[in-house]
Amino acid sequence: MARAARTEKKLGWDKKHLLGLEDLSRDEIIHVLDTAASFKEVSTRSIKKVPALRGKVVVNLFFEDSTRTRTSFTLAASRLSADVIEFSAKLSSVSKGETLRDTARNIEAMGVDVIVIRHSAPGAPHYLTRCVDVPIVNAGDGAHEHPTQALLDMFTIREIKGHIEGLKVAIVGDIVHSRVARSNIWGLTKLGAEVVLVGPTTLVPRAMQQLGVQISNSLDDVLPHVDVINMLRVQRERITSNVFPSVEEYTRLFGLNSERLARGKRDVLVMHPGPINRGVELTSDVADGAHSAILRQVTNGLAVRMAVLFLVSRVPGSR
Ligand code: CP
Repeated sequence: MARAARTEKKLGWDKKHLLGLEDLSRDEIIHVLDTAASFKEVSTRSIKKVPALRGKVVVNLFFEDSTRTRTSFTLAASRLSADVIEFSAKLSSVSKGETLRDTARNIEAMGVDVIVIRHSAPGAPHYLTRCVDVPIVNAGDGAHEHPTQALLDMFTIREIKGHIEGLKVAIVGDIVHSRVARSNIWGLTKLGAEVVLVGPTTLVPRAMQQLGVQISNSLDDVLPHVDVINMLRVQRERITSNVFPSVEEYTRLFGLNSERLARGKRDVLVMHPGPINRGVELTSDVADGAHSAILRQVTNGLAVRMAVLFLVSRVPGSR
């Protein structure tokens, strides 16, 4: 191992890519969270920039729509003084039939240093690591993983609760279609939280118990016992069959409103990755209420993505 690589290992990070939290150790996750904590202060300065990635180029290669993740990566790269290229599949030669491999190789040929990719196909970021030489960051691949979302969720929990180990975290809703749930399960269990998945049987497969989590079909049973409740969006675009009788029934059983929330712990933290279906998984008074950490999650996403771009771009072998 080269001396530089040994140094990075000692510093806690030697991964060229961030593909998912399944691949990270507990120590690597903590290293990202600690690095993000050191970057969070940058956004409070009057000049919100550090030169860490000056001269580097980050491309946002988004094949799916996004508000938070894309904007957050763009701002994160900009605060690290990198140049940013925004790629949108709808406006590109993908519409003329160009493949993912050719698209990525052409963009790499322009001299980019990091590719951030969101794609509807699970494994698309992993495939890109075999097509190009630059670091790849997964910004969400189908229903597989969304590692930076889970990292920002854990950062927010740790910031507010002071720790993650020993906390009981409920993840509620459309688990089967959720990359956010999968990444949170990997990350939270590695950091010692107890995770319970809550939802109708059609959206919470029993087989997920193999990931070291509990499963419940009753939000009312679980709510009084949890420290954090992460409400997932009902992903109408990924649901292909009738997995619950009606949206109204789903909301009655699994939606969080202030009356239901009052039966939770006094300091229960309410989270949601966004975008919210207001009135379906969350009522507006809960989404915007005192227990909600939803906008704080978004704020923290910036620091987490600064940390991720910084860490992957300085691993030996990265440009
Ligand atoms: N949470 C999340 O991934 O939001 P976007 O789809 O807006 O990026």
